Amino acid sequence: MTDLNSRLANAPVVPLVQADDPKIAVATTRALAAGGLTVIEVVLRTPSSMDCLSAICDLDDDIIVGAGTVLSAEQASTVLDQGAKFIVSPGLDESIVQIAQENNIPVFPGINTPSEIMKARNLGLNMLKFFPATIAGGIPALKAFGSVFGDVKFMPTGGVSAGNLADFLALENIVACGGSWLTPAAAIAAGNYDAISRLAEEAVSIASSVAK
Ligand code: 3PG
Repeated sequence: MTDLNSRLANAPVVPLVQADDPKIAVATTRALAAGGLTVIEVVLRTPSSMDCLSAICDLDDDIIVGAGTVLSAEQASTVLDQGAKFIVSPGLDESIVQIAQENNIPVFPGINTPSEIMKARNLGLNMLKFFPATIAGGIPALKAFGSVFGDVKFMPTGGVSAGNLADFLALENIVACGGSWLTPAAAIAAGNYDAISRLAEEAVSIASSVAK
């Protein structure tokens, strides 16, 4: 967890990479890293997403690659075999958490209620994905969670953008924000990887301007 934590402390933004072609996934990841974001979540939402994850994990680059949209224990095991260094899931599933814990791999299950936070906390977790962040109460919800779960940190995703990133990151109980705004499908389709690097640079600059 230490590597991931220190990387996120430096640049607390986790871009989603969704691709169906490993070459495009690699180019997107490298564009993000060139812009300063080196913790990447590859989402399992396309037929070739496992191949994309594997290709990125095989890179020699200094990037921490996780798998997102992990929906089952079977997928959790497979992404670890491919080399994923952390697991993100939209919801809280104990079998996924168990596989991650058995393998000593950070896992961010998605939660958006106090009962789910308690369940996750009682499974031994203290960093959770807050999803879908803006729909599930956004910043007021995170403040309310902070008042009762002082030992839990959150990674909001779902509706986070350059426009609200600073507001999320300013909260004490935020470890990082995640999202797809850094990897717009139109830029990828156009092969405009410079645009992706610029979005990453913008996010890094917003994050560094937030004083806690
Ligand atoms: C996720 O899986 O974290 C969300 O799909 C991200 O939501 P976004 O597309 O609104 O950033």
